[in-house]
Amino acid sequence: MCGIVGYVGEANAKDIIIDGLKKLEYRGYDSSGIALNVGGRLVVRKCKGRIANLENMIAEEELSATVGIGHTRWATHGAPSDVNAHPHTNGDGSIAVIHNGIIENFVELKEWLARDYGVQFRSETDTEVIAHLIGIYYNGDLLDAVYKAIDKMRGAYALGVICAQEPDKIVAVRKESPLVVGLGNNCNFIASDIPALLKHVRSLYLIENNEVVLLTKDQVKLFDANRKEIHRDVFHVTWDADAAEKEGYDHFMIKEIHEQPKGLYETLHRRIDEDGSVRLDGINMSKDEIEKFSKVYIVACGTAYHAGLVGKYIIEKLAKIPVEVDVASEFRYRDPFVDDKTLFIAISQSGETLDTLAALREAKRKGARVLSVVNVVGSSVARESDDVFYTWAGPEIAVASTKAYTTQLMCMYLIALYMGKERGTLGSDAYNQYLNDLKEIPDLIQKILDQEEAIYEIAKKLYKSQQVFFIGRGLDSSVAYEGSLKLKEISYTNSFAIAAGELKHGTIALIEQDTLVIALATQDFLFEKMLSNIQEVKARGAYVLGLAKENNTTIERQSDRVIYIPECRDELTPMLSVVPLQILAYYIAKLRGCDIDKPKNLAKSVTVE
Ligand code: G6P
Repeated sequence: MCGIVGYVGEANAKDIIIDGLKKLEYRGYDSSGIALNVGGRLVVRKCKGRIANLENMIAEEELSATVGIGHTRWATHGAPSDVNAHPHTNGDGSIAVIHNGIIENFVELKEWLARDYGVQFRSETDTEVIAHLIGIYYNGDLLDAVYKAIDKMRGAYALGVICAQEPDKIVAVRKESPLVVGLGNNCNFIASDIPALLKHVRSLYLIENNEVVLLTKDQVKLFDANRKEIHRDVFHVTWDADAAEKEGYDHFMIKEIHEQPKGLYETLHRRIDEDGSVRLDGINMSKDEIEKFSKVYIVACGTAYHAGLVGKYIIEKLAKIPVEVDVASEFRYRDPFVDDKTLFIAISQSGETLDTLAALREAKRKGARVLSVVNVVGSSVARESDDVFYTWAGPEIAVASTKAYTTQLMCMYLIALYMGKERGTLGSDAYNQYLNDLKEIPDLIQKILDQEEAIYEIAKKLYKSQQVFFIGRGLDSSVAYEGSLKLKEISYTNSFAIAAGELKHGTIALIEQDTLVIALATQDFLFEKMLSNIQEVKARGAYVLGLAKENNTTIERQSDRVIYIPECRDELTPMLSVVPLQILAYYIAKLRGCDIDKPKNLAKSVTVE
């Protein structure tokens, strides 16, 4: 989704901004642009496609400036094109704006500006309206003009604004869409997220909703919606800047797949005290409160939703409480049955997904206790929750989520164990046994990673398949959804997941000679049932890749190829079984020549509805 970056200081703004935009590439984009104040005149350069196109466009230009803003656009209003790319300017080109979000009343504003001010629009975007609005209100004070403009706007936005007449300033605004401010020496920055700034700063302000920021090279002032100056504590980034680099891997995705043992170790061991007891930092619910809950909603999008499916299974099993899982965009519009006995769990890697955030607010409004499972520290979902449980996966850059998913699963297990213990539905022996088994998981994942070469060989055999079906039962069906999503999002293979028992009710009609079926059969108590389902597809000519625990070798009789995962208790297999599917998707996409870290049409952080 759109990324914004801005710099005000003493150095070459052009290079710093281009570099920052590259760090935001992972969010997903289709065009990019930059606006610089060159000797009191705004110079805007923008174009469709990759940032490399923009770099080529300005490579020969001097463009000496110490103030500027840059943008990566993910099209919402108007197709990806040079003219629709940001920054957008007002009529005389003296105000330039970058924007992440959507202006809901832009049609009405556009008509008004055209009718009453004779404004002529160049692009199809909602953002251009903002530049003209600020332009008509500008009277020598950029901050004042921005306040007047946002007063007219409805929707979600993070904005960066510069003005030719005030060459030492950036004004930035946050409403819903993410925005951080980086605090440097004789320079300051704005950006959509922290990785864009880590090369330059480790001290930041996390900007809240409805706040306006005025940046000069040696000062940052924050104001609330009523123009009152406010104080904000400085947020210090503790994680390593290198964590956001590829470190010799070809892609972030494969690097992040390999980081899973470490991520899961962190997620678990940060919570285990020296005496071996588990402390769920960030969760401040009393035993009474936990006993009072009559139901749980887990709400999320994409991969995080798939983690929620596993969460449902495990919380119901260990804490004996009904759990509903919903995609956030559905939950928020269906008047769900939420009250003060509801525990609402939001799962989000970025903590900025707009639908998840809106669902969370809806649940809170109806009286639910809100617990979030989030990766990005200080993100909106984290800040608006009653309790926050961090996944500690480290920064995830590839659009296709891998280590965020497995660490989200680890969090769901810990939450389920905790609830089971507090509600008295899980005895201490069982609790300790689960915990010991969880401690084994990072090493077991490493064993699967050691099979990477063998999985690559399988990918070589399968990468031309045009259509793939993932099937599984119980927890395996949840992992099948995630495996299928991985494959389709990065390799553009038409892939579909279904509960294996449901196949015969329609989907089996699509199975024909050599159709690829990936059959997950890791659940011991469902193993024989899965073998029957595999036989059903084999009988129709399918080519079957089986996935099973290493002792269940009878699957070889029904399958064309098999990938094994180490022995582990049924309930914990999702953290293992997803890993070969991630690796398989990665190599299939690579063999198909796809842009793995930045798949077409997708965004890492989806900050629009
Ligand atoms: C986008 C990403 C997915 C992610 C989903 C939810 O679609 O491409 O990888 O699972 O958003 O994101 P969140 O940050 O809320 O987990």
